[in-house]
Order: sequence, then structure tokens, then C-alpha cells
Amino acid sequence: MMSLVEEELGGPTVFRDLAKLDFDYVPEELPNREEAMRFLARTYRGLTQGGTREHALVWGPVGTGKTAVAKRFARDFATVLGKKGRRLESVHVNCRRRKSAALAMLGILNHFEPNYPERGFSVGEMMRDLRKHLERRDCHLLVILDEVDALLRADGSNLVYDLTRFNDETGQAWVGISLVLISQQNVLELLDDAALSTFKRSNTYQVQPYTADQLEPIVQQRVDLAFAPGVVDPDCVSLIADIAGENQESNRSGPGDARLAIELLTKAGQTADDEMRDSVMADDVRTAKAYTYSVVTTSKLQNLPKHPLLVLAALARRLERDQAAYATTGGVEEMYHLLCEEHDESPRGHTQFWKYLKQLQDAGFLYAKISGKGHAGTTQLLSLPDVPTKVLLDKVRDLLE
Ligand SMILES: Nc1ncnc2c1ncn2[C@@H]1O[C@H](COP(=O)(O)OP(=O)(O)OP(=O)(O)O)[C@@H](O)[C@H]1O
Ligand SMILES: [Mg+2]
Repeated sequence: MMSLVEEELGGPTVFRDLAKLDFDYVPEELPNREEAMRFLARTYRGLTQGGTREHALVWGPVGTGKTAVAKRFARDFATVLGKKGRRLESVHVNCRRRKSAALAMLGILNHFEPNYPERGFSVGEMMRDLRKHLERRDCHLLVILDEVDALLRADGSNLVYDLTRFNDETGQAWVGISLVLISQQNVLELLDDAALSTFKRSNTYQVQPYTADQLEPIVQQRVDLAFAPGVVDPDCVSLIADIAGENQESNRSGPGDARLAIELLTKAGQTADDEMRDSVMADDVRTAKAYTYSVVTTSKLQNLPKHPLLVLAALARRLERDQAAYATTGGVEEMYHLLCEEHDESPRGHTQFWKYLKQLQDAGFLYAKISGKGHAGTTQLLSLPDVPTKVLLDKVRDLLE
């Protein structure tokens, strides 16, 4: 007999390779971060021309690819330099976990010496040991100080200063250190004058939040890498991008965060697996979203009058019936008439229906966009990004009774 565990594990899965959804995984290509990659390439170009060190700061909001860009750049740059017979190594230090100069230095040394003693050496002594390692390997080290604001706040800018000056004492030109500082804020203000003086202000790059359009290829890439072919409904990709993307036009806009987008995709896949389905549908994305955050709470629904509630239910019913991410206003109005009949209500006129839609949109219960390709003319498309249709319909049914 199969154990429960075996039964659960033996079910079908929509995933091909879950590791590709891991936050530490860095894809070969980073769509819509070409400009940031080129900025880094230009900044560190001096190293290929006899320069001894370059430093840069990359800053911007959560989930905008800062860490991914720095890691991708470090790998690609090492490959290019390797072809020219130069050795570049890189080490990524998470300063939120290593908030002091000593802890950060230990992280750097562990790259060369995994068993380097955790105690007993001063930062100066660790610098000396690091130099020995670099000289022995004849290599240049790119140190990525990620979330560096945490270190600067807790322990000042001495470490940044020491690392930017590391090369002053080196004989060989190639052996030395270059820095990439990463932060959600522009940390140049947190550097003291000495540290700032070694830092060219022009070597600063600000990343912007992703728009929904920019997130689409990022989500699509993970669909292709992590899921079995053809299992993810194409609507899911644009729905996820809409939820996570920054969007000035619609009142429904996310933070522009690729991490949120990947998390939604992962959870949507897991929902399909849990329900033993072999495809991922738009509703799985809504379920995924409901895990993290939902604007459609019962208490907010209670404040809605009967007819707006019926309009909202009509949208949910329509989306459920069509298993779609979006519905046309015409389709929703048709469903609204049907629901009114079911509830012995006389439907309000067309103009009033549009006013309800607008109200619901302003309150964040639905969001609307103008259709692009694939639809005749311009049609308004409606969606419910924040709640599974099933959950919404249950709540509305309770309220209408
Ligand atoms: N352009 C992109 N293409 C593919 N994946 C991306 C892209 N941008 C970000 N990602 C992925 O999104 C997730 C978040 O990105 P990343 O960790 O680089 O954000 P961050 O800017 O460092 O955020 P934080 O400030 O929270 O550290 C990672 O899994 C990363 O691989
Ligand atoms: Mg990061």
C-alpha cells in the first residue's frame, strides 16, 4: 500500500526544474537590465586597459534586479578577462547578515579559505591575509558589498575606505580589489569624506522599478526554464506582470518587483500541483496572490451596496466560467443581468453599470485595462488580480443572502 507521503509525492507536477525559481539562481540573460549591465561594463572597463581599480554603486528599490545584475556581471566579466589571460574572482557579501567590518572581511576571506578562524584576527590582519591570497593567485578581486547601507549604518565607512585603498600598497598592478556597492538607497550620503574621495560620483547607477511590460519577459523566461512545456496558460504571464509591475495608468499597480513576480509564479505552480492539475491557470495566480495579500477582504465587501456587489460577482463568475485572466465589459454586463435575474433584482441601466465599474475600480476591487492585440478595436478588459474567483463568489453569496 502507498503511504500518504508517497501518494502526495507521486502526484503529477507542472514543474520541470524548481531550482530555476530559486532567488539565488541567476539566469544567463536578464531581460530589461541591458542598460545596467552596460553601465557596469563601461565602469570596470578600465581594468582591461591597465587600470588598477574601479568602483561603482548600484541602487534602487526592492526586487529590481540589483543583486542579479551584479552577480551576472561578475561572472561574465571574469569570462571575458579569462580570455585575455587575466584572473578575476568575485565574492558576494550580504552586509545585512555581516554588519561589521570584521564579519564582512571574514566573508571575503572565506572565499579563499573556508576555515579561516572566526576570531582572533583584526581587520588589518585579515587585509594582510587577503593580500597574500590575491598575490599567490595573481588575481583581481571584485567585492560585491550587497545591502551595504546596513554595514555603513552599523559600523561606519572604514571598511569601504580600506577596500577602496587596498591597491595603494600592492606592487603588481593587477593584484587588487574593485568594489560594487549595492543598496536600496543612494548610500553616497552615508560615506564619510575620506571614503567618498576614492569614489567617483559618476559611477552611480539607479535602477527603476519594473513596469508590467518589462516583467513579462522576465516571468516568461522562468516559465520556460522551470515548467514543463506548455503547462502554463499564457494569460498567467501577463496577469503576474500586471500584479507585480509598476503601472502609472491603472490604479492597480504593484511595486515593480521581480521577486514578487517569481514568487507568484512559483505559488501558482504549487497550487496546480496541490490540486493535481496538469496546467497552471489564471485562477492559480489569484490564489497565489491571495496568500500574500488581498484587497478583497470581507469587511470591505460589506460596505458595498447590492448592485455593485452583483457587478463584482458577475466579473468573478465570468472569469471562472471562461477560465480566463480578463473579461470584456460586455461579457460582464451580460452576466450581471443573469445574476440580477437569479436574485430577483431588476438590472440597472448601462450608464449606471459603467459607474459601478468605475467605483469598484477606484476601490481596488477590480482593475481595468484597454485591450491591445487580439481584440477588435479597443475594448476595456476587466480583471480581479487579488482574490481567487472561488473565494470572491463565496463571500458575495454570503453577503447577498
Ligand atoms: N531582469 C531580470 N531577469 C530575470 N530575473 C530577474 C531580473 N531582475 C530580477 N530578477 C530576479 O528577481 C529576483 C529579485 O532580484 P534581485 O534579488 O536581483 O533584486 P534586488 O534589486 O537585489 O532586490 P533587494 O533590494 O530586495 O535585494 C531574483 O530572483 C532575480 O533573479
Ligand atoms: Mg538584492
